Amino acid sequence: MSINYQDRIPNNVDLGSNRTLQRALEHWQPEFLNWWQELGPRDFQVADVYLRTATSVDAKGWATYGFVRMPEYRWGIFLADRDPERKIGFGDFFGQEVWQQIPGEYRSILRRLIVTQGDTEPASVEQQRMLGHTAPSLYDLRNLFQVNVEEGRHLWAMVYLLHAYFGRDGREEAEELLERHSGDANKPRILGTFNEPISDWLSFFMFTYFTDRDGKFQLKSLAESSFDPLARTCSFMLTEEAHHMFVGDTGINRVVRRSLEVMKELGTEDPAAIRNAGAIDLPTVQKYLNFWFSSSLDLFGSETSSNAASYFANGLKGRPDESRYEDHLATAQTYPLELPDGKGGLKSEEIPMRNAMNEVTRGSYVNDCELGVKRWNRLIEKAGYSFRLSLPSTRFRRNIGNWAGVPTDTTGRPIAQAEFNARLGDWLPSENDQAYILSPMHGVHEPGKMAAWIAPPDRGINNNPVEYEYVRLH
Ligand SMILES: [Fe+2]
Ligand SMILES: [Fe+2]
Repeated sequence: MSINYQDRIPNNVDLGSNRTLQRALEHWQPEFLNWWQELGPRDFQVADVYLRTATSVDAKGWATYGFVRMPEYRWGIFLADRDPERKIGFGDFFGQEVWQQIPGEYRSILRRLIVTQGDTEPASVEQQRMLGHTAPSLYDLRNLFQVNVEEGRHLWAMVYLLHAYFGRDGREEAEELLERHSGDANKPRILGTFNEPISDWLSFFMFTYFTDRDGKFQLKSLAESSFDPLARTCSFMLTEEAHHMFVGDTGINRVVRRSLEVMKELGTEDPAAIRNAGAIDLPTVQKYLNFWFSSSLDLFGSETSSNAASYFANGLKGRPDESRYEDHLATAQTYPLELPDGKGGLKSEEIPMRNAMNEVTRGSYVNDCELGVKRWNRLIEKAGYSFRLSLPSTRFRRNIGNWAGVPTDTTGRPIAQAEFNARLGDWLPSENDQAYILSPMHGVHEPGKMAAWIAPPDRGINNNPVEYEYVRLH
């Protein structure tokens, strides 16, 4: 099987003249397509979907819209343009030339970082593969598929780095990226959140809001890397990632809006009444938020981390928006932490700043998450209700780091394990909640029609009306 490099794989890495890379990708591409057919979106592979495709990195080409069957999507390889002046922006090599090749001593660590990031991309496609059947509209169905094909492209982007810079090990890692599967008992995806099932659309919106946002912050950290091809790859991925978070943000917004409409109509806030009317009550939205936010927090790793310190020292992974910090060495500063004291209380500790890099990034992430919550609350306030959504404490329900397994309430106050167990049903979706959430979610596949549990979006995609036939089913 030969590949037409210009048409099939749009790229700005001069693929047409790189024989070694061509051979590696020629071998990998059919395996990717098999994976897509088997574990990509279920049952919509022959539908024509109104998708954007990146055909270059400039303003005109990075979002080209048109109808495509997903298996024929042109998964391209793009790196943000090279800045010949770019210098290392942090750590012990601050101010030196960035690397166009990988220094031998960092080879295995960089490979690990790339594989860990790369693994999340196909994982989310696998997690979301059944959602097409229950999409609330063609607009939403199209957005789901847009997210899916772009995560596929992000996988390509990471596989390109593995093939181009890591030789045989890289090729093996690229194959394994298609062999691990989300939720697989024997070969799961690397990170926990990416093994959680996403079987309903509220979870999908929470995932794209909270977990894709983790992706944003990881990509921002890697976009600072001294390994220039990695930095440029991640910079370009961030442009696409913004849409995924938009899908989550506006999705939750529309769920809240619909809930408020029904509350108004019925003149009650009673969750049972809201549910009876086919909408999703706000306390249930809060529970899903608690679940996905706390799960996503774990993705940043431990509060204190010697790995994070060495990634920073060696210039492999920086802080998001590193240029906004004054001190790029971070050798003289400390970071204050509040940790469990092991006796049901708290203790304060100051740790070296470099060891706190995970926590620094997590802090920026939490601030970013707050913005959407504020917007959703404004809707509720404007509608005249006192209910407010909120982010739980970063200590709540953690599985990684100092707070792992420490029972706290949603405000972060340590409590007894028995109390935690007893109240868990108030904080996280119960089996009952999950069954309810699925019940009104039937696929709505008629142009312009919207499921009863969600309000229509304010506008369509690429200046098309909301009623546009974004997916042509056959
Ligand atoms: Fe991605
Ligand atoms: Fe994403």
